Amino acid sequence: MTEQRGNWTSSAGFVLAATGSAIGLGNLWKFPFITWENNGGAFVLVYLVCIAAVGLPIMMAELLIGRKTQKSAVGALREAVGPGWGLVGGWGVLCGFILLSYYTVIAGWSLFYFTRTIGWTTSGFPTDLPMGDLFGQQVSNAPLQLVMSLGFSVATVSVVYFGVQKGIERIARLFLPILFGILVLMLVSALGMSGSGEALTFIFRPSFSELEPAGILEALGHSFFTLSLGMGAMITYGSYIDRNQSIVKASAMIVVLDTLIALVATVIMFSVIFSVAGMAEQVGGSTVGMLFISLPELFYTEVPFGTLLGPLFYVLVALAALTSTMSLLEVVTSYVIDEHGVDRHKATVLCGGAVFVFTIFAALSFSGVPFLSTLAVFEGKTGWFETADHFVSNWMLPTGGLAITIAAGWFMTREATEGELADRTAPGWFRYDLWRFFIRYVSPIAVAAIVVAVFFFGVDFS
Ligand code: PFF
Repeated sequence: MTEQRGNWTSSAGFVLAATGSAIGLGNLWKFPFITWENNGGAFVLVYLVCIAAVGLPIMMAELLIGRKTQKSAVGALREAVGPGWGLVGGWGVLCGFILLSYYTVIAGWSLFYFTRTIGWTTSGFPTDLPMGDLFGQQVSNAPLQLVMSLGFSVATVSVVYFGVQKGIERIARLFLPILFGILVLMLVSALGMSGSGEALTFIFRPSFSELEPAGILEALGHSFFTLSLGMGAMITYGSYIDRNQSIVKASAMIVVLDTLIALVATVIMFSVIFSVAGMAEQVGGSTVGMLFISLPELFYTEVPFGTLLGPLFYVLVALAALTSTMSLLEVVTSYVIDEHGVDRHKATVLCGGAVFVFTIFAALSFSGVPFLSTLAVFEGKTGWFETADHFVSNWMLPTGGLAITIAAGWFMTREATEGELADRTAPGWFRYDLWRFFIRYVSPIAVAAIVVAVFFFGVDFS
């Protein structure tokens, strides 16, 4: 069975692919923004605690369920926990489907800004074009949105089409080092800017009086999103892990790398923002503002080597997004392959096509199309795009995560999980009983708090 199924060629290949899934728009777009909103320091510290106390144990849980069963989300949960648990896997597949449909649209924006910045680098930055207007124009330009998201979908399908080794792992091995390289270049440039000291203080000096309780939940909610947990992506990637590999070591590496990249991205962005007088006041407005409105201009007016780093930055966003979208499509595709016996090529095209129908809805959410632009299910969220994002981030990921935690902690036997984690490959520092304590008590209580906050107190994570 192991032979028929794709497998990662090596432990490094797997770690890169899973890290690629984790590092995405969440790191470059959401994390800096919520750090900003929650006044830095204390929020970052709480986030680090959430990652270690909740994210890491659940990462291990998802990977072990996958490797144990060698099946994708639905089959894995059914086999590892019990027949009814397939539904939780199905919930995850649905979540992957919806998330992919609108994530692709934001990824498409990075393509637009890449082409724009290339143009500005070669023929000069337009001083008479407000960046807020440019963003508004591109996002409401229906044909443009469709072309860019189609381009991104085709790229995603092309990777997953070639399977685990020749597609996903190969692209991760190629792109992640490039991504790290670009970030290092940007970090060096950003640290040389006058605002870097203030940025570092903002990010790393905790001041607990500035953190609201909702910020703690936001840190917790984001730790799920950023680590690609709660929807079976890591179960699916885990199902391709070799028995000789340590799930504990791999999980630790993925979690550390993802966190490091989120912090580096935040240091870069805030160094730039704090270097420009008045910028800090302007940024607050919207999540996308920082990435697509404030930064483009700053590359051409403030950042050392910005004409070079501008286009490179949007390459970085696109690469980070692609290594995430391919994991999302893999969740859906591997379900169709495993559960319905369809071959990979057919399954990939079929799933990619089906998701794209919904990508069209998300892409047209800002163009004034009736229903798509006006849909209002959740308070304060207008249009298909915002509704989908709200539903996934607030309702689907936390409930899926809660179910997976309970499955691993309470419905799987000690022997079943211990055999996967505390085997001869486990590193010396690992204590199985500690993991078991966290997965049985700490993680479920923490995740239940998110679910309660969303259901009963209307807290918003999207
Ligand atoms: N972890 C990704 C990010 O931070 O952007 C988002 C994501 C990708 C979530 C893949 C879930 C997933 F399966």
